[in-house]
Amino acid sequence: MNKQSLLNLFSTDSLYQQFLNPILSKDDGLDPEQLTQIALALLGQVSIYRNSPVFSKVLTKLANELKHKDERLQQNLFGCKFENPIGLAAGFDKDGVGAGIWDCFGFGFAEIGTVTWHAQKGNPRPRLFRLAKEQAALNRMGFNNNGAYTMNKTLKKQNIEDPLKRSFMIGINLGKSKITPLEQAPDDYGASLELLSHMANYVVINVSSPNTPGLRNLQQPLELQRLIERLRIVKNCPPLLVKIAPDLENNAIKDIANLASQEGLAGLIAVNTSLDRLGLEKRVINQTGKTLKEEPGGLSGSPLCDRAIEVIRLLKKSSNDNMPLIGVGGIDSPRVAWNRLAAGASLLQLYTGWIFKGPKLVTNILEGFSHQLDRHKFENISEVIGSNAPWI
Ligand SMILES: Cc1cc2nc3c(=O)[nH]c(=O)nc-3n(C[C@H](O)[C@H](O)[C@H](O)COP(=O)(O)O)c2cc1C
Repeated sequence: MNKQSLLNLFSTDSLYQQFLNPILSKDDGLDPEQLTQIALALLGQVSIYRNSPVFSKVLTKLANELKHKDERLQQNLFGCKFENPIGLAAGFDKDGVGAGIWDCFGFGFAEIGTVTWHAQKGNPRPRLFRLAKEQAALNRMGFNNNGAYTMNKTLKKQNIEDPLKRSFMIGINLGKSKITPLEQAPDDYGASLELLSHMANYVVINVSSPNTPGLRNLQQPLELQRLIERLRIVKNCPPLLVKIAPDLENNAIKDIANLASQEGLAGLIAVNTSLDRLGLEKRVINQTGKTLKEEPGGLSGSPLCDRAIEVIRLLKKSSNDNMPLIGVGGIDSPRVAWNRLAAGASLLQLYTGWIFKGPKLVTNILEGFSHQLDRHKFENISEVIGSNAPWI
């Protein structure tokens, strides 16, 4: 065996395929939440000590393997420079423990959170289920997080640079604390923003998670307007985006697009997890013996793909083409990712697909984009956005 094949054997992708894939290809076995917690505990320590000789060597190796450099993939959007259009979606790094190292995984940006003003435990376990055959997940986490104050400390501990000085964009996704009544939501989000605005390149108003009672009511235009206007008065308010649910009626989606244009929002993120069972109503969750129809929670992954692209098309049409959109939901291959850009999303985010396919998915998507740019003779990825250019 030569040196290269030996190195390949110990590549991140190879280790992932050998050790994690067998676990992830079954619904039961190692609890998905426990697995995530172990990974985040490790990443958190690596991020704090990322400049130590040992960790910096490991991270350089990781970055060499996963980063794909192509200047044509860069974009400037709402005052932020994105090295590439692929980001880590909200909900994986809820407390921001890995904020200092997500760039080494090849991402162009990462969205940390959802963080709430009050620390909260979330719903009782088990609350996250793998649906391996469908490459999907059901979760009812309920915004488990350590709260805005701890996130601020966690970011400081990692010596995260000032937003204007960093080359890697970090978004902070804000949610409502469960104990806060809905009428007081604007001040609850506002308190988190006041504490965290100095750390964020952009901020997301999450009004679309299905696991906090009443939260989705804040998607109604008047409620949303009240919330946006409250956040706008925060000193040095970063660019604001709103994340929406896939389960909204099409007319409600158009209303949000209109409001976003009217309020001058930086962008919209579509979509969060779905309460719809997307044809999987009868699918039984092994761990509970109940069907998906009986189990509460939001569905993510491959089954969400069709609705997610439909929502992007609707938003693009309703916002006169000039509102930056972030596409998320069921993105698990270079072709699916390309089609989401061609439908109108300027940036994309990964969660469930990234878990099932492994870290190399980011690299594969970006390499796929570079090839497609060559084939279409596009000079920059921005030419793809909303072009309906097919994957060739
Ligand atoms: C376990 C889990 C937790 C999530 N937590 C959050 C969250 O805290 N905030 C949020 O905005 N979205 C959250 N999401 C939704 C994702 O960010 C994403 O919008 C959704 O999963 C669709 O993308 P996907 O099909 O690539 O997973 C969560 C998703 C999963 C699977």
